[in-house]
Amino acid sequence: DAGEHDSFMHKEILEQPARAEAVLRGRLDERFGTGHLGGLNLDARELRAIRRVKILGCGSAYYVGQMGASLLEELARIPADAEAASEFRYRNPIVEPDTLYVAVSQSGETIDTLLAVQEIQRKGGRVIGLVNVVGSAIARQVDGGIYLHAGPEVAVASTKALTNMYLAFAMLAVQLGRVRDLSIADGKRLIAGLTRIPEQIEQVLATEAELAVVAKRLAEAESLFFIGRVRGFPVAREGAQKFKEVSYRHAEAYQTSELKHGPLALISPDVPTVAIVPDDELVERNVAALHEIAARGGPLVVVTHEGVALGDLDGTLAGRIDVPRNERELDPILMTVPLQVLAYHAAQELGHDIDKPRNLAKSVTVE
Ligand code: BG6
Repeated sequence: DAGEHDSFMHKEILEQPARAEAVLRGRLDERFGTGHLGGLNLDARELRAIRRVKILGCGSAYYVGQMGASLLEELARIPADAEAASEFRYRNPIVEPDTLYVAVSQSGETIDTLLAVQEIQRKGGRVIGLVNVVGSAIARQVDGGIYLHAGPEVAVASTKALTNMYLAFAMLAVQLGRVRDLSIADGKRLIAGLTRIPEQIEQVLATEAELAVVAKRLAEAESLFFIGRVRGFPVAREGAQKFKEVSYRHAEAYQTSELKHGPLALISPDVPTVAIVPDDELVERNVAALHEIAARGGPLVVVTHEGVALGDLDGTLAGRIDVPRNERELDPILMTVPLQVLAYHAAQELGHDIDKPRNLAKSVTVE
């Protein structure tokens, strides 16, 4: 059972620092600034021959796949994208021999993901798995992979497995980068950044009481937006997914840059926005968008870094969440964790069954 916790979701959120250490353990090569992923079954020459990466997963595994694609493009400069595994095989996908396919699944039993893997292999493609459950159907089917070591995840809403999926992608991206153009200095910088993540997740979790106050405010709204751009957009998608799964509120993710092309029409004092605003190349543009929202009376919760100047907005926010700084490329995971906590506390406030949201199953094994 969940012990002193009211739910497995809460227990699993708090386990993340220890589980994150487990997925990184023995896989970081500090000397050469690279990842050391033994289960890929690909030698350096095969790794270098990869021309494209296609990531497949469902639900949260799909959104973390988008985070992974962005890491792979940024660090390894390999064209990469993520697609919902449930859609993939229905569009007669082109399977290429120099593409690395990555199937992402906590349970390893999601039928949509398993059937996508089989379709790729039928056409001669090579698939690796990012899977948590050892010996599961997808783990057995793939040609190699990275086990996530998150421990058993019981709550339907994925938290610790998702975090470890992200960290596995980061190690994969560094390793693929280091057989290409990622310098040893950058490799070392990122490996050092990864070693700091478990403790920094702990720091985010230490702010739970403040996050709970923000969550109560958000729980009052019938409908809300989660926004971010580039690295921050999959974070917004995952944040909205988690929030809707357990709070049953309508939560929609949008690219911050696209707000003005449509959804700004919906912004009002009744529709809060949770904005992902890392201190990166886009911070000024992101802050400008926050002003657009505030001008229409939209309540704002900003997930950002300490020192990011929000000007006259600061006094008006429904919440400001400063996460610890790491390397910019690794911002997404430290910004995802507080969104899990917000979703959990919103669901608790609304009195829902946190671990077993209505209409959902932990793993969907029939099509
Ligand atoms: C869905 C769950 O059905 O399956 C999601 O409700 C989950 O929470 C998704 O992210 C994928 O599951 P898995 O086990 O393949 O990661």
